[in-house]
Amino acid sequence: MQKAWFYEEYGPKEVLKLGDFPIPTPQPNELLVQVRAAALNPIDFKRRNRPIYVSDFPVVPGCDMAGVVVAKGSDVSKFGVGDQVYGNIQDFNAEGNLKQLGTLAEFIVVEETLVAKKPENLSFEEAASLPLAVQTAIEGFKTAGFKKGQTVFIVGGAGGVGTLVVQLAKNLFGASYVVATTSSPKVEFVKSLGADEVVNYTKTKYDEIKEKYDFLYDTIGDCKNSFVVAKDEAPIVDITWPPSHPRAVYSSLTVSGEDLEKLRPYLESGKLKAVIDPTGPYDFADVIEAFRYLETGRARGKVVISPFPSQHLPFYEIKDNLNILKIQDKETVSTGIVIEETDLKGAEPENKEHIQNYDIAPEEKVLASNVDIEIPQEKKSILEEHGEKVIPVVAGESGEKIAHAYKKFEASISDAKVVKTATELKAENTEMGI
Ligand SMILES: NC(=O)c1ccc[n+]([C@@H]2O[C@H](COP(=O)([O-])OP(=O)(O)OC[C@H]3O[C@@H](n4cnc5c(N)ncnc54)[C@H](OP(=O)(O)O)[C@@H]3O)[C@@H](O)[C@H]2O)c1
Repeated sequence: MQKAWFYEEYGPKEVLKLGDFPIPTPQPNELLVQVRAAALNPIDFKRRNRPIYVSDFPVVPGCDMAGVVVAKGSDVSKFGVGDQVYGNIQDFNAEGNLKQLGTLAEFIVVEETLVAKKPENLSFEEAASLPLAVQTAIEGFKTAGFKKGQTVFIVGGAGGVGTLVVQLAKNLFGASYVVATTSSPKVEFVKSLGADEVVNYTKTKYDEIKEKYDFLYDTIGDCKNSFVVAKDEAPIVDITWPPSHPRAVYSSLTVSGEDLEKLRPYLESGKLKAVIDPTGPYDFADVIEAFRYLETGRARGKVVISPFPSQHLPFYEIKDNLNILKIQDKETVSTGIVIEETDLKGAEPENKEHIQNYDIAPEEKVLASNVDIEIPQEKKSILEEHGEKVIPVVAGESGEKIAHAYKKFEASISDAKVVKTATELKAENTEMGI
């Protein structure tokens, strides 16, 4: 079982509850992902407040996530176990409804076409903050038919979508002049995102602005007032429904992993940066508080949830019926082998003298020096073929002590906890559909 946030009736944030859900099994075209960070979007609370999309209760909210692939269906070709991925998982199903199981859960399944590999320079939190907002932000420029060299006026430059629209206008779509609106405390912040000019809407009304712009991009649904800054024939895009001015065109996101992949060069070069609201990230246990904050409408960038409780859970990939183990540390995934009880020999290890010099408890010395951990050659060759470092990991009754002893003199599996028997590990694999 896993922990997930859910609700069984529509209403305010208090309808959210934390409960146990089965770990889902990936379909042939799906990945099972252990969520390491998620992000909230207004759609998550709008959908919780009233039935926007038809779905059965309980609903697990959340669209955005970044995490680690722990299992995959038989038709998956682009991703492997241990890959770090991110994406907006809430595509519509064949009946036109959103999928039920959202990202405020320790494990989610997602079609491989909806996710992309996480750029290495981004943390899980940064990656999770991007998908839904950046997909929306990009679509608005496409809807408008925006051309390089045009000017743009952005209503709401400080929110989850707005912070990305400002950066994209400047660094990806080549706007010649970018103006964005926000309130007094955030003027310098929006300038720092690359806006040429920031209008403080608490001091300046739209009809006091003399200049007219080639494109009006409204992220907060204020077109009924903001339309006055658009040139006569200029496109006006509204991402809220319904658009509040007859000239405005509603623009909605396209959910796609390929589109995220196209952003990789901009994310790697820092031309596009994830913006995480400074009140977060919020712990998984504090999801209700995170919603309370998002629902004030004052977020600065994205409201992110991290860490998740299963952060350090080891997970396993069985290759060719051998127990090849992927061990996740805080940020990295290494490969090791589960050593069965039967692999432990009573023979004296060659490095007995060496072991005696290590600062470990006497009983550990006895264990470590009296058992020789012999990695079967077939397991070794598989790892070597994949060019991976061999890390011996012990499962079994004495596993904890031996793993601890190994840690002292191998120093290679700092956070890995392998204290279960091989039978227990296999049972977990079965439950996770691996
Ligand atoms: N169509 C789609 O596919 C799609 C996708 C994503 C989101 N949306 C919708 O788009 C809207 C924005 O989403 P989001 O994630 O960016 O929300 P958000 O992060 O909650 O937006 C918060 C920001 O809005 C700004 N804001 C509020 N009133 C403002 C005003 N009068 N003028 C200028 N800025 C103002 C706030 O800045 P100040 O504190 O400075 O006012 C704050 O930084 C939501 O309604 C959401 O549901 C639609």
